[in-house]
Amino acid sequence: METIDPGAAASAVRYSRGAMILHWLIALLIIGNVLGAWLSEDLPKPDRAAIMGLHKAFGITVLLLTLVLIGWRLLHRPSPMVETLKAWEAALARVTHWLFYILMLALPLTGWAFVSAASQGKPVSIFGLFGMPALPVGFDKATVGTFKDLHGALGTLMVALFVLHVAGALKHQFLDRDGTLRRMVPFLK
Ligand code: HEM
Ligand code: HEM
Repeated sequence: METIDPGAAASAVRYSRGAMILHWLIALLIIGNVLGAWLSEDLPKPDRAAIMGLHKAFGITVLLLTLVLIGWRLLHRPSPMVETLKAWEAALARVTHWLFYILMLALPLTGWAFVSAASQGKPVSIFGLFGMPALPVGFDKATVGTFKDLHGALGTLMVALFVLHVAGALKHQFLDRDGTLRRMVPFLK
């Protein structure tokens, strides 16, 4: 028998369907982008270029979906946190979520800026459908290097935050059993 405290279960209000769809779409695109960038590093040039073409389009999609998600959060009241969270857990979750939002904007923006500078102002192709204009960041070597390093460092930070976030989700699911995970997963009982 699961030992979910009825008070806690009752307080585990789900995120809205729209917020869940956006959360999981963004999460999948980010995981795909990190794996794609890392695993394609040693592939032959044309294969790497094809994967990085998708990486750029996925990344810009994350940027747009994040703007939609932020708009959604401003228009809808956020679902209240699980009541049984300790103060430090609630604070850590808040900081993690805020940092995620910042990275969900800053990672695509630094990638876009890097590619804009490195390609000397060429538009970024989105799945071959249309081009996003280059960001006006300058084309000199120092600018290219700065955005490349920044993009890489933010990518590492994103991975660290992801590990913390998933560890938190699993702790609440399997140790605390407080219904946190089902707030974001439509089919969990
Ligand atoms: C890179 C991938 C991910 C990103 C960027 C991400 C980002 C976020 C953000 C920003 C929130 C806060 C939503 C809000 O209140 O506005 C959130 C909540 C949540 N995420 Fe993720 N997430 C990712 C992957 C995952 C994964 C893999 C899991 C499950 C193992 C997960 C489980 C949850 C849960 C359960 C919540 C709700 C937490 C609560 O009750 O406050 N996330 N996520
Ligand atoms: C959610 C969005 C994104 C994530 C999570 C992400 C993540 C990453 C990661 C982890 C790397 C490897 C960095 C390293 O090992 O040094 C990388 C590299 C790269 N990213 Fe992104 N990225 C995103 C968006 C973008 C966008 C929007 C663009 C361009 C429009 C872009 C262009 C690149 C390029 C060109 C590289 C290769 C850099 C090199 O040659 O070393 N990224 N990205």
